Amino acid sequence: MNKPTVVSGIRPTGYLHLGNYFGAVRNFIKMQEDFNCFFFIADIHSLTTHPTPENLQAGVKQVLAEYLACGIDPEKATIFIQSDVPEVSELYAFLNMNAYLGELERTTSFKEKARKQPENVNAGLLTYPVLMAADIIIHKAHFVPVGKDQEQNLEMARKFAGRFNRMYNCELFPIPRPFTFDGKDMIKVPGLDGSGKMGKSEGNAINLYEDPKSIRKKVMRAVTDTGPTEPDSPKSEAVENLFTLMKIVSKPDVVEHFERLYNSCEIRYGDLKKQLAEDIISYTEPIRDRIIEILKDETYLAKVARQGSERARESALQTLNEVKQLIGFKSLF
Ligand code: TYM
Repeated sequence: MNKPTVVSGIRPTGYLHLGNYFGAVRNFIKMQEDFNCFFFIADIHSLTTHPTPENLQAGVKQVLAEYLACGIDPEKATIFIQSDVPEVSELYAFLNMNAYLGELERTTSFKEKARKQPENVNAGLLTYPVLMAADIIIHKAHFVPVGKDQEQNLEMARKFAGRFNRMYNCELFPIPRPFTFDGKDMIKVPGLDGSGKMGKSEGNAINLYEDPKSIRKKVMRAVTDTGPTEPDSPKSEAVENLFTLMKIVSKPDVVEHFERLYNSCEIRYGDLKKQLAEDIISYTEPIRDRIIEILKDETYLAKVARQGSERARESALQTLNEVKQLIGFKSLF
């Protein structure tokens, strides 16, 4: 029986952080065993923020090395660079004809980006979910492992896949579904600044590549509050966030220990932070060592990218040909 197909990608705009790891990559590693997986580096998407050619190239190489260092196996999963598969851009052009200005303008990610970079509200930002839909449906994906922040983009991909099927009266595209390996909801990893999610541009992230000293420093500086004054009082957002991070990286009995201390008003945030920093380091340190090793081997990185793009193109071209037939493109000459 054919394995279900999985597609997901990450923009190469720096180092991968704990949000990327726990929201996405950790699921990739587990899924590669039982699914037909395509994991890519979304370098075209990253052009919306106008990186320099040098930064773009360095970012792509970094994410590729980090994918491998995290344990994605190029023999099990197809790892590729988005721009190496031009069929995606062709499908993006076709899907754009069936995507409406109103629905694109209404997406929260567009509104947020437009607010963050008012000097650069380009059309690529507006049609970002269309390119993302092309990434996903060109391989006829059934599942998309992403963090909570991508929920709306994925909803758009579902909409565009269904719309194409209806428009051309076919069932070419499966309707892709979000996926987490443990069956739980998509997660949002919080940042260290007391609000919102961990993100590259928020300046509140811990990277997998971060050295232990810098991790300790960042965690010790994390925002907290003045501490609970009554037993079992609710937590402030900043403290809740630290507990959420702890639930992700620490053992359950460690979390319970600090919950008990919090509820009996005996907690010392300094102790909690020390423990949290050490538990983050146990996760990241071996990955960091592998990233350093893999980055040295340019030949290996190039081989992985080449092999991945060949496999991805084969799958993409097959779908694209079917799309062209359905749309009515016939070669007349
Ligand atoms: P990007 O590059 O912002 O993030 C990559 C992945 O990391 C997840 N993530 C998080 N998960 C939980 N908590 C966080 N704080 C957190 N921060 C980031 C994201 O949910 C994502 O899974 N548009 C996508 C890239 C993309 C894509 C695709 C993804 C392009 N085409 C097709 C899936 C399928 C993005 O910008 O992710």
